[in-house]
Amino acid sequence: MSPAKFEIITIFPEFFSSPLSFGIVSQAIKKKIVEIHIHDLRDFTLDRHRTADDRPFGGGEGMVLKPEPMFRAIRAVQSQDPDRQGHVILLTPQGKPFNQALAYRYSAFRRVVLICGRYEGVDERVVEALVDDEISIGDYVLTGGELAACVFIDAVTRLLPGVLNNQSSTVNESFSSISGSSSPSPDYPLLDCPHYTRPEDFEGIKVPEVLLSGDHTKIRQWRRKKALEKTLKNRPDLLEYDLLSEEDRRLLRSSSKF
Ligand code: 6GU
Repeated sequence: MSPAKFEIITIFPEFFSSPLSFGIVSQAIKKKIVEIHIHDLRDFTLDRHRTADDRPFGGGEGMVLKPEPMFRAIRAVQSQDPDRQGHVILLTPQGKPFNQALAYRYSAFRRVVLICGRYEGVDERVVEALVDDEISIGDYVLTGGELAACVFIDAVTRLLPGVLNNQSSTVNESFSSISGSSSPSPDYPLLDCPHYTRPEDFEGIKVPEVLLSGDHTKIRQWRRKKALEKTLKNRPDLLEYDLLSEEDRRLLRSSSKF
């Protein structure tokens, strides 16, 4: 299969050299599972000063990314693609909240164009004419979409077939709906359970006995219980008691933290 492509449109092309040069994402590039192309928005300006932004109509603080360079950049990037398959995403705090379900959905796309917003935003005519989805990575304001683009690429790339050696390692993790239960698993996301590695005893703090027992049923139940406890503690909004399975209710009731 041809590599999945991320096309980034930004006024800070140098921003991406380091975050995309390490670990899993850089390996995925080396393995030709993904290609990442960076496009400098200023290359699509026509004036001597390479002006990408301007003051907002109606007055107010901040600057707005101008429509002409953005239209030219997006059209140029799309025209490189014979199938015009590129799905255009604007990274903006006004977007839909990004989550694991969206990461899975975008991992099926062959080509994604990521527009990094800056300043007060992007001229809305770009959004109306050329943007398929507006995405935010959380309820806080960043100075620009570049960090969000890195987050997006990282979360989507690790889900592409062949990127992680053991594809099953994405099944039990946080926000994937299994987290250690015996099958069939109820279909709601939990945070991942705690993990331990050697040594068994670190400064007198011991690894939970059950993990050394070799009893896989007990280990599965322990992990499920710890995942429920962690979710209750840190993300109670994910847990709706009425929707829990009988088994999960039993595990939660047996918890000292409930
Ligand atoms: Cl995608 N962009 C900016 N500028 N701020 C954000 C964001 C994106 N997501 C959360 N905050």
